[in-house]
Amino acid sequence: MSGNRTFTMIKPDATGAGNTGAITKMIEDAGFRIVAMKKTKLSAEMAGKFYEIHKERPFYGELCAYMSSGSIVPMILEKDNAVEDFRKLIGATDPKKAAPGTVRALFAKSIDANAVHGSDSDENAAIEGNFFFSQFERF
Ligand code: RTP
Ligand code: MG
Repeated sequence: MSGNRTFTMIKPDATGAGNTGAITKMIEDAGFRIVAMKKTKLSAEMAGKFYEIHKERPFYGELCAYMSSGSIVPMILEKDNAVEDFRKLIGATDPKKAAPGTVRALFAKSIDANAVHGSDSDENAAIEGNFFFSQFERF
């Protein structure tokens, strides 16, 4: 059975372009309840820890530099079938391949500056939510 929570971050391109509100509205309109949310900025070291699963991939250095280049808005989200439904809402990693109407089709600038992160499994959703939020920040 799939879980009912996922984790997202609005990435620096989208916070910088003033799209935090529009993206958050799309998320709520799609039926996700916001359990936890804040605005923060990652150091390169923290970004490296967050994306440790991608350590061996060729884009790891660029990804960590990019994700620490500006402010981000991490959130824990709740909905039935959360992980899969959220990845449908955001669309493909590369905005050129993202389906029309998805968050990345509407707001992403490139494969790096792609507006939002979405967890890829229930297990990673829990790990990623715990990275940013204590038990006292979830409502
Ligand atoms: P995310 O984790 O951010 O939700 O993105 P994703 O699952 O759709 O893609 P993933 O494979 O997990 O990659 C993480 C982020 O790394 C950048 N990336 N660059 N140059 C490339 O080929 C490449 N591939 C991935 C993207 O910014 C992606 O969001
Ligand atoms: Mg991913």
